[in-house]
Amino acid sequence: MKALITGDGGQLARSLSNSVVGNHEVSLHPIDTMDITSAEQVEEAVNDFRPDVIINTAAYTAVDRAESDEDMAHEVNARGPGILAQAAMKHGARLIHVSTDFVFDGASKEPWRTDDPTNPISVYGRTKLGGERAIIDSGLKEWTIVRTAWLYGANGANFVSTMIRLMNEGDEVSVVSDQMGTPTFSDSLAVALWCMAEEGILGMHHWTDSGETTWHGFATAIEEIGFKAGLIPNRTKVHPITTEEHPTPARRPKYSVMDKSKTWRALEGTRSMPAIHWRENLETMITEQMRV
Ligand SMILES: NC(=O)c1ccc[n+]([C@@H]2O[C@H](COP(=O)([O-])OP(=O)(O)OC[C@H]3O[C@@H](n4cnc5c(N)ncnc54)[C@H](OP(=O)(O)O)[C@@H]3O)[C@@H](O)[C@H]2O)c1
Repeated sequence: MKALITGDGGQLARSLSNSVVGNHEVSLHPIDTMDITSAEQVEEAVNDFRPDVIINTAAYTAVDRAESDEDMAHEVNARGPGILAQAAMKHGARLIHVSTDFVFDGASKEPWRTDDPTNPISVYGRTKLGGERAIIDSGLKEWTIVRTAWLYGANGANFVSTMIRLMNEGDEVSVVSDQMGTPTFSDSLAVALWCMAEEGILGMHHWTDSGETTWHGFATAIEEIGFKAGLIPNRTKVHPITTEEHPTPARRPKYSVMDKSKTWRALEGTRSMPAIHWRENLETMITEQMRV
């Protein structure tokens, strides 16, 4: 299979390129060679490589910055996926696109199903929903949209790297304890995306690691595992705080846990199953990929 991957340099694209198995031929593009908002660059890259599948990891992911930079967030997150869908349709490729839990408002107490009503509460969420709609409305038949959440990888600025830095700078951190979700290792999402590509799984899907926690629970696990691995010199106190005590430009969903049952059924028997618990994946990432 020939796979063209956008957003090279980002954490998910790196995980995809590190987890290729079998005879796949991969063409990875950073923004310099394939800006997904440029129909010309997209056409050139797709026409040159003639992929069977395009995997779009490119996105405007600065959630707080997006609040004051809506035009750019819209270009990348909403218009770009539409351009990719047009190119996929023209060249007979499938499109696998990554979206987010932020398309939901977080007001549920039950894991979000793929057919639950969307209602984003941030610019980032609205523009990512725009990207989903651009693909669905494009006329392309062979699309897969995979919503994920709380993504981190060994490569990239994310919650894990930020916490480890803060825990090296001081012996106390305060972390929000009233938002629930599931931390997701980008390597585990990457394997699931490869399996979806190999199996030809189409439609709307949800993928995160298994289990659920709060940001405070996530930070506490990072502290415990990071200290044991020698990445944090001293034990750090992780204080729980409320969302109100930690105001940010963008609002975030209170409850972001996603129902993966449909996707897990579709992936049954592939190497991405069973989905691993978030804490086990965190331990693997910290001890195998970050340990000094
Ligand atoms: N991170 C999370 O917690 C999270 C949660 C849910 C869903 N997601 C989704 O998961 C996917 C992968 O996220 P990630 O964490 O791997 O993001 P990331 O590390 O921020 O990588 C995104 C990549 O896209 C590139 N990019 C930005 N604008 C582009 C454009 N116009 N054309 C081509 N490339 C462009 C970025 O380049 P620059 O760095 O140069 O801007 C970056 O290399 C995204 O769709 C994101 O929305 C992420």
